[in-house]
Amino acid sequence: MVIDAITAMSINGLITNGEGSDVRKWTSEEDKISYWNIRSQYNLLIVGGNTFKTMLNTFKHRDDVTVIVLTNHPEEFQGWENKVEFSSSKPQELVDSLEKRGFNKALVIGGSYVYNSFLNSELINDFYLTIEPVVFPSGTPLFLTDIQQNFKLISIEKLNDNGTLQLTYRKVLL
Ligand SMILES: NC(=O)c1ccc[n+]([C@@H]2O[C@H](COP(=O)([O-])OP(=O)(O)OC[C@H]3O[C@@H](n4cnc5c(N)ncnc54)[C@H](OP(=O)(O)O)[C@@H]3O)[C@@H](O)[C@H]2O)c1
Repeated sequence: MVIDAITAMSINGLITNGEGSDVRKWTSEEDKISYWNIRSQYNLLIVGGNTFKTMLNTFKHRDDVTVIVLTNHPEEFQGWENKVEFSSSKPQELVDSLEKRGFNKALVIGGSYVYNSFLNSELINDFYLTIEPVVFPSGTPLFLTDIQQNFKLISIEKLNDNGTLQLTYRKVLL
């Protein structure tokens, strides 16, 4: 099974700007378009509980897209039981069970904790990384732990005149 991830970060490596939790408030219009184009290629999304909380007002349920919310506290998401699935499995266990259900690819959509747990388990294949030309004084770092992993840049696109970059990295198998 192929697991990919997508994120947007500031030049100084932060995925939130410290002023609010909604990522789409600070990313460019061009990144939003790119994000949705990539996300729409997946019918299985994996998201952390904190990130899902930031999406509750805007999230649109679709029958053809399975959303796994990783959380130890599904009771905090009352009313969502029929729209998403809750899991507290470790990344590899989750992937094994999804594979058994016939899924062959998934997109991890954040946040930091979940990116790091999947990276630590060496489960991320392609990493779609937008770099917005901004620097924030505070926020959530993309990388939380000492991760040693090799990726190869497979595409780079300048999305706008400000220089928002869409990078795609692919895991290098050593
Ligand atoms: N810039 C971007 O592209 C981008 C993308 C996504 C998110 N974000 C931002 O990132 C922030 C959230 O990141 P975050 O690192 O705080 O949180 P997160 O990764 O969204 O969620 C982490 C939480 O999910 C639960 N969880 C994760 N894996 C689990 C597992 N295997 N089993 C059980 N529970 C699990 C745990 O909470 P419980 O124990 O409480 O359930 C954990 O504290 C938000 O502000 C969001 O806007 C930015």
